[in-house]
Amino acid sequence: MSNNRKSSINPSSHWFDSNELFDNLFPESNSSLMKRHWTPLEVAKKAAEFLAAEKNVRILDIGSGVGKFCLAAANYMPLAFYTGIEQRGNLVEQAIQAKEIVGLKNVNFLHGNFSSVNFKDYDHFYFFNSFYENFSFSENMDNQFEYSKELYEQYTYLMKTKLASKPSGTRLATFHSTEDEIPEDYLVVGTEMKNTLKFWVKI
Ligand SMILES: C[S@@+](CC[C@H](N)C(=O)[O-])C[C@H]1O[C@@H](n2cnc3c(N)ncnc32)[C@H](O)[C@@H]1O
Repeated sequence: MSNNRKSSINPSSHWFDSNELFDNLFPESNSSLMKRHWTPLEVAKKAAEFLAAEKNVRILDIGSGVGKFCLAAANYMPLAFYTGIEQRGNLVEQAIQAKEIVGLKNVNFLHGNFSSVNFKDYDHFYFFNSFYENFSFSENMDNQFEYSKELYEQYTYLMKTKLASKPSGTRLATFHSTEDEIPEDYLVVGTEMKNTLKFWVKI
């Protein structure tokens, strides 16, 4: 394990027992991002239980960050396959390193913009408000990209179009979504975490 990771790691600890333990998979510099930008474990568990209700389904996390949702979901619901697409290469590297440490086989991470992903390759989707960085500049994690409301609208429209092309029965879990990116024929079938986590199914 690299030296810039937190040093107080108990090698026998279970990474998914708490958010604090999970955070130890990543460099210290990531700590401030953990709470605001990455899915809490209890949310990932509930979303995974909804999305991976059937065996062998392929789930895409749109904007996967350091891979927290994918890794936690792959641990809690191991009979499904999880892919994260993330535009920041440094975060993808951290996700891949964390995957190697926890030893999960049913998860992979792609570096790129979600716009290049073929949604036909996936059955169900997870979305934690990834495009909001274009909408609210005050809480952004870095200056790697030029943010704009036009980009927010472009990504939102594209995601809506891609989701609309999916068949009936497609599942979507959103956490803190503005709901701009959700087609009209996706209906809410459940909510958790004071309505911040929503479960949708395409009719
Ligand atoms: C709020 S974080 C959520 C991370 C992860 N899904 C989780 O729940 O732990 C949103 C992530 O989406 C990424 N993102 C934003 N726009 C993107 C795009 N167009 N394509 C790929 N990733 C994007 C950001 O870089 C950020 O890491």
